Amino acid sequence: MGIIGKTDSQIEKIIQQEADRQEYELNLIASENIVSQAVMAAQGSILTNKYAEGYPARRYYGGCEYVDQAEDLAIERAKKLFKVEYANVQPHSGSGANMAAYFAVLNPGDRILAMDLSHGGHLTHGAAVSFSGKLYDFAHYGLSPETERIDLNQVEALAKKHRPKLIVAGASAYPRIIDFKGFSQIAKSVNALFMVDMAHIAGLVATGVHPSPVGFADLITSTTHKTLRGPRGGLILSSERYAKAIGSQIFPGIQGGPLMHVIAAKAIAFKEALGQSFTDYQKQVVKNASALAFVMMERGYKLISGGTDNHMVLVDFSQKDISGKDAEERLGRAGITVNKNTIPNEKRGPFVTSGIRIGLPLVTSRGMDEKASKRIAGFICDVLDDQENIEITAGKVKDLCLQYPLYKGK
Ligand SMILES: Cc1ncc(COP(=O)(O)O)c(C=O)c1O
Repeated sequence: MGIIGKTDSQIEKIIQQEADRQEYELNLIASENIVSQAVMAAQGSILTNKYAEGYPARRYYGGCEYVDQAEDLAIERAKKLFKVEYANVQPHSGSGANMAAYFAVLNPGDRILAMDLSHGGHLTHGAAVSFSGKLYDFAHYGLSPETERIDLNQVEALAKKHRPKLIVAGASAYPRIIDFKGFSQIAKSVNALFMVDMAHIAGLVATGVHPSPVGFADLITSTTHKTLRGPRGGLILSSERYAKAIGSQIFPGIQGGPLMHVIAAKAIAFKEALGQSFTDYQKQVVKNASALAFVMMERGYKLISGGTDNHMVLVDFSQKDISGKDAEERLGRAGITVNKNTIPNEKRGPFVTSGIRIGLPLVTSRGMDEKASKRIAGFICDVLDDQENIEITAGKVKDLCLQYPLYKGK
């Protein structure tokens, strides 16, 4: 029995079951990753006991001399990593980061142009069920029906028509490079501010594997837990110009006390991201996604935009006799975790969908290379081709997982 079990055997059991699930399943959720043990230890550290409302050296509580140092380190490292003047490391999540960024430069009712949810945008980019859709007047761009890529001509036409105060680029499900320069030129031409939500690609951006929005975007938001491989949380970057507005919208605008244990873990993750091995890792993520895409297309599966430039692949089942929901469920039975995803011009409902999203960041963190990624693609196609293959594939999945433990030498 461990420390947790002495107090709560039910929760200890649940954690153990989840640990086994993560160990023995092929996790291809594009927004998940495996943090280092140092990041995890910081999150489970004594810093969780500390209240520190405010910012370093300007707190509303005493006893902040050590957590101040942790937050200063996180800020300095984030600034160095992304080459920006200002970093706010306090957002509890990516959604909160987006909320504070909007609040910093907009008033309720203002118009925003962002990517449509069903084409790959995020809920906080104006979905009716999100605070964003309720507070602001959103117009949406989508993917070109021909290329299945963002069409800057469409973005420009919509920007001219709707005259938004803010244009947002960034997505939860888009497998291609985003042209931040092109977006910024459109924003300038209609006098709009430009925000990039780089939550999914932050690790690629940090290492130069995806072009950076810095120098083009007025505001940059992110999560820290996807390709960036840090603790769960958010981040806002900008020039000095928006520092004060962002700072006051995070605290006291929408948050109270910052999570100092998570901020310390962010500092560690940023340090890790500044190292060469993190750049090698990000390059491998992209190679692995391309390898998987290649095999899936060879086996007759249609991919949105015909491939990938980043860490994810979107499979389009609109011409196949299987839904995203069925595929997710079938793959799950073989020990392969993906999520169903809407495709552009979706004909099925959001709980059924005609696609799946496949991400390679997590299996790459386990040490898997292109060869392993091609094997994974084969497993996926085997299961999607024929349900009869589920059982035999499940055995192969487990063998592959055993070859690549989650935490080596733990
Ligand atoms: C593009 C994008 N922005 C924001 C978020 C929200 O992050 P969180 O789940 O931490 O609120 C996500 C999460 O999936 C995302 O994909």
